[in-house]
Amino acid sequence: MEKTFLMIKPDGVQRNLIGDIIAKFERKGFKLVGAKLMTIDRALAEEHYGEHKEKPFFKDLVDFITSGPVFGMVWEGENVILTARQMMGATNPKEAIPGTVRGDFGLTVGKNVIHGSDSKESADREIGLFFDQTDLLNYSKDN
Ligand code: CMP
Repeated sequence: MEKTFLMIKPDGVQRNLIGDIIAKFERKGFKLVGAKLMTIDRALAEEHYGEHKEKPFFKDLVDFITSGPVFGMVWEGENVILTARQMMGATNPKEAIPGTVRGDFGLTVGKNVIHGSDSKESADREIGLFFDQTDLLNYSKDN
C-alpha cells in the first residue's frame, strides 16, 4: 500500500495544530503507521530539502525547520501521496483554498504549517531519512 511522509512544521507545532491535522487525515480514511515529535539538525534539514539548495530561500528554510520541534508522520492508503498534497493545499497559503490545511491555517510561504512528499520517489526517500523501518507499524484497521 502507498505511503507518504508528512511533517507538521515548527509553526504548526507551536500553534497546537497537531491534533487538528491528524484528525483531518484520519477522517479521510488514511492510516497512521508512524509518528515522531523531533527536532531536526541542520545536516538532516539540508539533506531533506536538498533539491532547494540553490534557491535564495534555502538558508531561511533550513533556519526555520530547525528552529523547534516538528511532528513527522507516515500515512498509508490508496493514492495517499497525491491526495495528501491536495488536502494540504498550495505551497503558498495565499493561493491555498479554504478547507485545505494551508488554506485554513497558513499565512506565508515560509511558515506554511506542513510539508508532504510530492512523489513516490520523494516519499520513499523522506520516509527513509526520518524513520527506521522498525518505526513503521503494520496493522489492519476498519474505516
Ligand atoms: P515545503 O513543501 O516544505 O517544501 C519547500 C519549502 O520551501 C516550501 O514548503 C516552503 O515552505 C518553502 N518556500 C518556498 N518558497 C519560499 C520562499 N519564497 N521563501 C521562503 N520559503 C519558501
